[in-house]
Amino acid sequence: MNGPVEPFKIKMVEHVKIPSEKRRKEAIRNAGFNTFLLYSDDVFIDLLTDSGTTAMSDNQWAGMMLGDEAYAGSKSFYNFEKAIQDVLGYKYVVPTHQGRGAEHLMYGHLTNPGQIVPRNMYFTTSKAHVELAGGTMLDVIIDDAHDPENENPFKGNLDFKKLQNLIDKYGPEKIAFVNVELNVNMSGGQPVSMKNLRELKEFCDKYKLKIIFDATRSSENAYFIREREKGYENTPIIDILREMMSYSDGCIYSAKKDCLVNMGGFLATHNKDIFEYTRGMVVLFEGLHTYGGMAGRDMEAVARGLREGAEYEYLKYRINQVRYLGELLMKAGVSIVKPIGSHGVFIDALKFLPHLPRDQWPAQTLSAAIYEDSAVRTMERGAVSKGRDKETGENIFPKLELVRLTIPRRVYTNTHMEYTAESIIRLYKKRDSITGLKMVFEPKHLRFFQARFEQLSL
Ligand code: F0G
Repeated sequence: MNGPVEPFKIKMVEHVKIPSEKRRKEAIRNAGFNTFLLYSDDVFIDLLTDSGTTAMSDNQWAGMMLGDEAYAGSKSFYNFEKAIQDVLGYKYVVPTHQGRGAEHLMYGHLTNPGQIVPRNMYFTTSKAHVELAGGTMLDVIIDDAHDPENENPFKGNLDFKKLQNLIDKYGPEKIAFVNVELNVNMSGGQPVSMKNLRELKEFCDKYKLKIIFDATRSSENAYFIREREKGYENTPIIDILREMMSYSDGCIYSAKKDCLVNMGGFLATHNKDIFEYTRGMVVLFEGLHTYGGMAGRDMEAVARGLREGAEYEYLKYRINQVRYLGELLMKAGVSIVKPIGSHGVFIDALKFLPHLPRDQWPAQTLSAAIYEDSAVRTMERGAVSKGRDKETGENIFPKLELVRLTIPRRVYTNTHMEYTAESIIRLYKKRDSITGLKMVFEPKHLRFFQARFEQLSL
């Protein structure tokens, strides 16, 4: 059998087509070699992101029809709240339109100007919201995470020495809170172990530091704990999730990933003060505290999706489909981040295009080349995403310069994975002929979304 067997059958299809070579060439140039600026109509297989791109189940669609659109006290909100309480174990829930709405409220509340937020590894919007509140986000992930070849099964773990150094340097009062991303997106979808979370809790209790999770891909992290950590082999995913969350004060959550929906988010907490404050603020920025920017039907879909997304058989298929694509590339000699992560395959662009200097944006270049070859849309996750140093204004060139092939949940078949792999392998064979890019337009905030590039000649 090629690839994992899908634990579902398909009830509705959406037609997609491969644009001609001429159209692909034109489209990527019109988009300034930035895959974010392509029209989705020009895309055959869209691996830009796993965010909001899920196919919902019949059960979720049925829930959509039952959505209660009351402005206040919607029944759908209470189903949403109950699902979060049941699956994650938090008592208090504040809905937001998506993850960054929750980051705005949570990080804005907990960060004072001049404070530091240590996090295993930054995520773009998370870092931006801490900075908006006047803080600085600093990575304290283990060194292994920066090495794509390192096979540590828990490459998302925090390094306590690095955390201690920050506390010694700035003093505990300057640390706003400790932020932990569960399944670290920017390092390749790498999990955090339960042991690391448990030890972090003990560590932070000593200094009375709050722990806030970015729980966006926590169900996938829980799957890896079950697969790789001794003692959890037979533990239900929900029990693993509840134990994970018990080590935090609260979390932010982009429901557009593990909750298997197209829109939504929330923050949740065990802490009454955080709840009271953020519940007060949500009405200013998002909507009333019983909808927070979501329609009733969307909350209903999240409630059902959070439960479905925590089912073991679903997660097993999900993780193995990503692994299938990664293994096809590895077999052909393409360097990818190892171990293969949960939500995508990350190609090491520095190894793929070693002839390009960093300021010719190897990952951006490769992402554009893949589109031009096969109309598969991927995303740069390297120096363009990282941005500039806040103090010096210089470009930061992180160790990881990656192209992310992010797999939407329950959307593409294993044959789509094979088509994608074939395109990348074809490019790999003629990689010497790929030329770099020059950035010709650079927006101030989150530049990767709208930056434009021109192709350099040989
Ligand atoms: N935290 C993490 C770890 C994320 O991956 C994202 C979004 C967010 C927060 C923000 O959530 O988009 O709902 O506002 N990640 C998407 C991605 C955009 O493509 O990785 P949002």
